[in-house]
Amino acid sequence: MTESRRKILITSALPYANGPIHLGHLVEYIQTDIWARFQRARGHEAIYVCADDAHGTPIMLKARAEGIEPEALIARVRTEHEADFAEFLVGFDHYHSTHSEENRYCATFIYKALKAGGHIAVRTIQQAYDPEAGLFLPDRFIKGTCPKCGATDQYGDSCEACGATYSPMDLQDAVSAISGARPVPRDSEHYFFQLADFETFLRDWTGSGRLQSAIRNKLNEWFEAGLADWDISRDAPYFGFEIPDAPGKFFYVWLDAPVGYMASFKAYAEQEGLDFDAWWGAGSETEMYHFIGKDIAYFHTLFWPAMLHGAGFRTPTAVFCHGFLTVNGQKMSKSRGTFIRARDFLDHLNPEALRYYFAAKLGAGVDDIDLSLDDFVQRVNSDLVGKVVNIASRCAGFLTKRFDGALSPRLPRPELHQQFVVAGDTIARYYEGREYSQAMRQIMALADQANQYIDEARPWVLAKDPERADEVQATCTQGLDLFRILIIYLAPVLPRLAAQAGRFLNREDLAWAAREEPLIGGTIRPYEALMTRIEPAAVTALLEASRESLAPTDAGPAGMAPTGAGAADAAPPGAAPGSGTSADAATAGTSAGAQEPVMDPIAETIDYETFARLDLRVARIAAAEYVEGADKLLRLTLDLGGEQRQVFAGIRSAYAPEDLAGRLTVMVANLAPRKMRFGVSEGMVLAAGPGGKDIFLLAPDDGALPGMRVK
Ligand code: 2FM
Ligand code: ZN
Repeated sequence: MTESRRKILITSALPYANGPIHLGHLVEYIQTDIWARFQRARGHEAIYVCADDAHGTPIMLKARAEGIEPEALIARVRTEHEADFAEFLVGFDHYHSTHSEENRYCATFIYKALKAGGHIAVRTIQQAYDPEAGLFLPDRFIKGTCPKCGATDQYGDSCEACGATYSPMDLQDAVSAISGARPVPRDSEHYFFQLADFETFLRDWTGSGRLQSAIRNKLNEWFEAGLADWDISRDAPYFGFEIPDAPGKFFYVWLDAPVGYMASFKAYAEQEGLDFDAWWGAGSETEMYHFIGKDIAYFHTLFWPAMLHGAGFRTPTAVFCHGFLTVNGQKMSKSRGTFIRARDFLDHLNPEALRYYFAAKLGAGVDDIDLSLDDFVQRVNSDLVGKVVNIASRCAGFLTKRFDGALSPRLPRPELHQQFVVAGDTIARYYEGREYSQAMRQIMALADQANQYIDEARPWVLAKDPERADEVQATCTQGLDLFRILIIYLAPVLPRLAAQAGRFLNREDLAWAAREEPLIGGTIRPYEALMTRIEPAAVTALLEASRESLAPTDAGPAGMAPTGAGAADAAPPGAAPGSGTSADAATAGTSAGAQEPVMDPIAETIDYETFARLDLRVARIAAAEYVEGADKLLRLTLDLGGEQRQVFAGIRSAYAPEDLAGRLTVMVANLAPRKMRFGVSEGMVLAAGPGGKDIFLLAPDDGALPGMRVK
């Protein structure tokens, strides 16, 4: 049964245009991007839009502090955001800004419609005013002593010590974070959106399967507490859009932020010739999903649908909330170096590793997810390098060397192919339901099965018998066919690796349906490593860089950094709180002693923990050659199953290069690379013996696989 082609509009929350993208943000963009890519792979029309959230007091003040216009600040930050997203392979169809003509048009249109419908009230309220800076202060820009418990240095809206919420005017010894002046109360006329007018609509809308149960429960609490009017105006000076017929009054940043979804789509529709009304009109048959963090549910499940409904537009099909990111089990911390910016990560590690790790952790709920850095290294290395990529590297060599890259015209085990194809239905259901961790688990179980198939078929044994060449070719073809199916399943998560694998297999169609056709009869291109292992040292370097690049300069005005939902301004009423080998073996390779492999008596013991830190791996010697100018060394190219290393080994007295190519050995894989006179040596091979002609490389059994850990 084929599903008809759905039209799906997908959004992620708009990042503020005053700070860099960090790993906390990326949970959401990666989650959303995977879903959008999955929908496209299934043949649907999925449009993914986003924009920078460019308005509000913090942006205005940050520009002021830098001595530039807000327009210059938001232009610079937008360029940085777009570069970070592109390198993390977050593939928006369109990226826009809330400071745009499309957004001004849409926000004004919605406001006017709400006003015409009688849903806007105007009344005078008293607020804290900074007489020196000459502006009204957002709650987060006031600090003072909690009126309830006396804790000092608390924000203007709530106390972090006792949890009390209050009005900024109640704060004792209050000071403005902008000027240090004492705020004074001042009257001003404000515009309010009367949310309670939409209670019946909202109760119905929120109750009809559009929200996760945890969010629905939260909404029930909000309904019980009563839907208060929402203050949608701010006084000049303010960086935003002036409210029509209200000089000196501006839309509050949160009014025009979600409208940014519409504006971004509008700009895209104009560029692509799409019918805007067919997507946003009240009777639209398209689907629309917002991916957001749970801290901004109030805006997206109450204000936003009410605004859309009140202005005659369609409402979201569903809102998908996710939890927050913790790193090593704790809130991201600048001092621990775990507040990691996208750019710092990109400087040290492969973005697809993070995409995979997040996928392996994400479910459909609102639970927080933890990036445990040790687990991250271990899981990416073992799943992606050790299992998935390993299948390709195990099979490709035989086909390339012995069959000129030609695939067999048949699969020896067509039922295995079929089993992998059928598993795609379950995996697709997991993706659709945002249960990515389950999808990854299924895919890795299939990868285990594919490796097991190769282990049992033993092409390296068959290859010794010239009469069984067909079987070698067929086995490796089957291995690559299974690999290709896995790649199709992983493509939403690993789009770059998948595209590279598609080129290697000469099958670039990665659509879900393309998995059905077996990979037989064509040719493959020479295999190139698809992914390399993550070195723990790279993670250490990342943490160090994060610590350095996040010196306190990041703080907001007067050293105060507004955070969380309040970063734009005050949090909404009732918003969910923002959260955060062995003794006999010598080593021959990179050490100074490597050039003189002399066996000394065991002089010194090491403790077990030191030993356990050695990452010993089976390696296939892909190539061995003499090193010009070195009379003891050979340059070895070691294949670790998906990754190649160059190692200089002091074994020339015992081995000729031609004796070594194709053999298996054991290497220390986590030795820090070492610069030698002849090049960088990236590990050590293990050998034992007294020296001279008597050096014996460790040689595991034929059944060992490159990359396998030696326990
Ligand atoms: O919380 C935030 O980071 C906001 N900039 C999200 C806005 S999402 C949408 F409403 F625009
Ligand atoms: Zn308190």
